[in-house]
Amino acid sequence: MTAGVLGVPWASGVQRRADGAVEVAGVAVGDLAATHGTPVYVLDEADFRSRARGYRTAFATAFAEVGTGVDVYYAGKALLTVAVARWAREEGLRVDTASGGELAVALRAGVPGAEIGLHGNNKSDEEVLAALDAGVGRIIVDSLVEVDRVAALAASRGVVAPVMVRVTTGVHAGGHEYISTAHEDQKFGLSVNAGADGGDPPAMRALLAVVARPELRLLGIHSHIGSQILDPAGFEAAARVVLRLRAELAERTGVLVDEVDLGGGYGIAYLPGEVPLDPDRIAKDVASAVAAVCAELGTTLPRISIEPGRAIVGPAGLTLYTVGTVKPVALDDGRVRTYVSVDGGMSDNIRPALYDARYHAELVGRTSDAEPVLARVVGKHCESGDIVVHEVLLPGDVRAGDLLAVAATGAYGRSMASNYNLLTRPPVVAVAEGASRVLVRRETVDDLLALDLG
Ligand code: LLP
Repeated sequence: MTAGVLGVPWASGVQRRADGAVEVAGVAVGDLAATHGTPVYVLDEADFRSRARGYRTAFATAFAEVGTGVDVYYAGKALLTVAVARWAREEGLRVDTASGGELAVALRAGVPGAEIGLHGNNKSDEEVLAALDAGVGRIIVDSLVEVDRVAALAASRGVVAPVMVRVTTGVHAGGHEYISTAHEDQKFGLSVNAGADGGDPPAMRALLAVVARPELRLLGIHSHIGSQILDPAGFEAAARVVLRLRAELAERTGVLVDEVDLGGGYGIAYLPGEVPLDPDRIAKDVASAVAAVCAELGTTLPRISIEPGRAIVGPAGLTLYTVGTVKPVALDDGRVRTYVSVDGGMSDNIRPALYDARYHAELVGRTSDAEPVLARVVGKHCESGDIVVHEVLLPGDVRAGDLLAVAATGAYGRSMASNYNLLTRPPVVAVAEGASRVLVRRETVDDLLALDLG
């Protein structure tokens, strides 16, 4: 183990010191564990900020070159805390929310309503009203029923609701089936393809319905094709479909909508050697595709928005665990797998169990010259699927009390955490310039008991 920056898939502030211990933004993992306990989600603030800036600058530059502007919405579902929302805003991002809870956190952070979007395929009346009362910049409608619902709620408040219509383009992209969202047979959006009755596609019907409602102002068309996408072709294909729909709506109604939102989904590296999407490359490719299609269609360029979540916060985070038990298990093929149990598991990271997601782990509290062994990092839950890292080489002397870090857990870790087996959810700790700060405190058993009214 050599000293220096650990590199992909770790946050940029993660490095191994000459004494073998790893630090995050200048704080040794041993100090983090001693101060905050384990398991703990650790966020490298500077890394988050530089990725946020990186996306904003890449897209702003590429689209300025073809003659239009971009708004980058940070997708709060990946991880939203008051501080994280503030960082996003300070780096020039807006915030995309998907529930009343996410909306409340963004507002608590001081994000102006006008810079917030509200998503959801089944928003409650309370959520829509909270969004209208906060003056959100956009409500993304997801069904025909919702067009009427949002219009009625806007009328009840005496306001005009700014809406986008979420469409499904038929472009299939992304990782696991559960996180691909633009193919037909799933719950999101309105299809651009004609329905069974041969009439207008649901997407066109919704757009026409919005145009016809005085309580609604149609801002534009929205498309999100999936998550953890590593092939940029899908974004361009979806943009083409959306821009054609925009032109068709203009032909039929005279309304050429101002905005097109291309959603999030930019893939990251989870393992050493994996190559994440490069924001500069993808921004250039998408910008030139958008410009070419608009030229072909003879329409002016819309303002563009995107909604990256994982690509901003995923690599900025890691989870720090303490090793408990170590157990060698003989495999059928004669190999031995060393099961390394840590003090968390599927309650703090459901992604391996839910999506078969792969992660990378390293021993971070000390260095070791022991021969590496084939290890599987598992949690402490009552389920054999409670796997944190399927397969990783760890020093053969890995033992109880060792600190183990799992890389790239910043997105969809804390935000999808549970209390399975009544474990308490770990804190979120930010590290910057040699100091750590708790953003979300650790849950306690008292918190759990307080919810249980007996
Ligand atoms: N915009 C919309 C409308 C979305 O539905 C999503 C993610 C995003 C933006 C942000 O996507 P990102 O840039 O983070 O890929 N829990 C899954 C991911 C679900 C994503 C759902 N929608 C996972 O852990 O992989």
